[in-house]
Amino acid sequence: MYVMTLHRSSIGKKIIMAVTGLIWVGFVLLHMYGNLKVFLGPEYFNAYAEGLRTLGAPIFGHTHLLYVARLVLTVALVLHVWSAYSLTQQAHHARPSNYIVRQKVQANRASLSMRWGGVVILIFLIYHLMHLTWGLPVAPGVFVQADAYHNLVNGFHFIPATILYLLGVIALSFHLYHGVFSAFQTLGLNNQNTETSIKGAALALSLVISIGFAVVPLSVVAGIVR
Ligand code: HEM
Repeated sequence: MYVMTLHRSSIGKKIIMAVTGLIWVGFVLLHMYGNLKVFLGPEYFNAYAEGLRTLGAPIFGHTHLLYVARLVLTVALVLHVWSAYSLTQQAHHARPSNYIVRQKVQANRASLSMRWGGVVILIFLIYHLMHLTWGLPVAPGVFVQADAYHNLVNGFHFIPATILYLLGVIALSFHLYHGVFSAFQTLGLNNQNTETSIKGAALALSLVISIGFAVVPLSVVAGIVR
């Protein structure tokens, strides 16, 4: 299939969704690993946050590579949401209008939870960026640009924010489990022999990511990270 016409067909949209989703899986894994540095203390964590800004130096200038990564992630997210929306619209139009009994087969339920889960993740992500990256007044406390550690610790003393983070992480974990499996299927990497191992890998990945993320706010609330 010609790459420039991918966006026109449903299989093309599914491929776009799979590839952009996998780009985010890569980012989310690195981000989760990076967050665990909070257990090593403020100096270490803040040095890591600054390291993200000086990534690629001295070849790249301050924050240049970071902006490239941000651009790739933004484009991937927009394409992911667009293809999901477009495939949903297509499915609605294809559905016969004289449906009397709406039989919700398993595949339907899964795609419904993917859509709503995706919406929860998107709301979480917008709040998260306002909260810990842009420092907008969406939680009490003072945001200090160069002190990611204290912004994080102060942030999770605000319990509504902690609850939203945990909801976001739970939604992400379900979304990843189904999404990673679907992506492998779309990309033709799945067959009868590999199905069980791909499902196992998707489950392991979603568990590692949810536990790895959730342990940070929970440790702040428990007073282990302060
Ligand atoms: C408990 C969970 C999480 C914690 C504690 C956390 C923590 C942080 C912190 C401290 C920053 C700011 C880093 C800095 O300014 O140097 C950040 C940025 C960011 N986080 Fe998270 N995060 C969490 C979950 C997530 C999840 C699940 C996603 C994606 C679905 C995500 C996506 C992002 C993005 C896109 C940025 C902006 C990166 C940039 O452009 O500099 N985060 N996060």
